[in-house]
Amino acid sequence: MVNLILFGPPGSGKGTQAAKLVEKYNLLHISTGDLFRYEMGNDTPLGKEAKSYIEKGELVPDEVTVGMLRNKVEANPDVQGYIFDGFPRTIAQSEALDKLMAEKDTAISALLMLDVPDEEIIKRILERGKTSGRADDLDETIIQNRIDVYKSETSPVFDYYGKQDKAEKVDGVGSIEEIFDRLCASVDKL
Ligand code: C5P
Ligand code: MG
Repeated sequence: MVNLILFGPPGSGKGTQAAKLVEKYNLLHISTGDLFRYEMGNDTPLGKEAKSYIEKGELVPDEVTVGMLRNKVEANPDVQGYIFDGFPRTIAQSEALDKLMAEKDTAISALLMLDVPDEEIIKRILERGKTSGRADDLDETIIQNRIDVYKSETSPVFDYYGKQDKAEKVDGVGSIEEIFDRLCASVDKL
């Protein structure tokens, strides 16, 4: 199996690139953000709980996110691999993911980080907000909070997988195709 973590700050292009990677490598795309938005759209208890955090740009508690992720993985056992997008976002989530992969007799193959400067990220998220229908893409205070949370809680995940020799930075600035080619070059090395 090839199990990838597509990593990077909000607005770095994870969802866009994951959609292209799953096609080329025949993997299952799991975006925890999309899963939360689906639950919110259906106004489920999980959606209601997630909404109270997402609308402030905060992280949903680890046990909630890990439980949802685990359900999604276990519902799709017969795949050639997974692309995790927007997960893990904390060290606790990383440990839970490694444990889940080990239970399935597999492991994370690589974490690929899309490297994009802050100014570019804010510009991209505000642009996306015009059409994404996401309240958390429209308000600069919420966007800044998401970036702050990424720096304080999520960026240590890069070093966590760095210690396993699995973390790699990819230049996330350029055209969608240019960035895709860089990611493919990294995946093809695995
Ligand atoms: O990944 P994405 O940017 O779509 O996530 C949107 C929001 O969902 C995040 O800002 C956060 O509030 C929540 N989220 C989370 N934990 C995750 C993924 C998403 O709390 N692992
Ligand atoms: Mg996304």
